[in-house]
Amino acid sequence: MDRKYNVAVIVGSLRKGSYSRMMAHAASRLAPQSLGLNIVEIADLPLYNEDLDGANPPPAWVAFRQAVRKSDALLFVTPEYNRSVPAPLKNAIDVGSRPYGQSVFGGKPGAIISLSPGAIGAFGANHHLRQSLVFLDVPMLQQPEAYIGNAAGLFDEAGNLKNDGTKDFLQKYLQAFSVWIGKHAPA
Ligand SMILES: Cc1cc2nc3c(=O)[nH]c(=O)nc-3n(C[C@H](O)[C@H](O)[C@H](O)COP(=O)(O)O)c2cc1C
Repeated sequence: MDRKYNVAVIVGSLRKGSYSRMMAHAASRLAPQSLGLNIVEIADLPLYNEDLDGANPPPAWVAFRQAVRKSDALLFVTPEYNRSVPAPLKNAIDVGSRPYGQSVFGGKPGAIISLSPGAIGAFGANHHLRQSLVFLDVPMLQQPEAYIGNAAGLFDEAGNLKNDGTKDFLQKYLQAFSVWIGKHAPA
């Protein structure tokens, strides 16, 4: 292994029993050795307001920006709210993208795992999020795509994935992401 990449994992749900958070932890356990997955929390980020983004921005923004800046790559694990990106995740994107010209995201390879208890795997959130990340110059993993449906049945009580098919898919997905990072991560 040439290099171990620090992957900032951003989870789009704030609730305690979140399937997205369970999926992020499962991904961390199943990731290849080349990836170190670390959740960067977004729950305490004040709503983005340019008036606050002067010489002394809110400490939670500063900490978030620092954590993302020092990462090599970005993994978003998110549900869908009303066919789009949950507000806390969109807020985190906005906070990290500013002040203008100082985005912490630019050039970092990214990937999205979207999931839902419904059947279509949060496809709408996945692609709305891609729209923002294209603008923010994040090279996004194209294939495989990860739209995970029926999420409520995937985990046991300890939060572990129950079926081998999903584990196998996740492992392959993360391996592909590792190759993608190797190609696109800044030196
Ligand atoms: C405000 C709101 C809007 C939602 N909209 C959608 C939706 O558009 N599509 C969908 O599949 N599920 C939708 N859901 C259901 C979520 O997928 C479900 O609550 C899921 O468990 C949230 O992810 P989490 O388990 O990571 O918290 C919505 C839930 C909330 C609270």
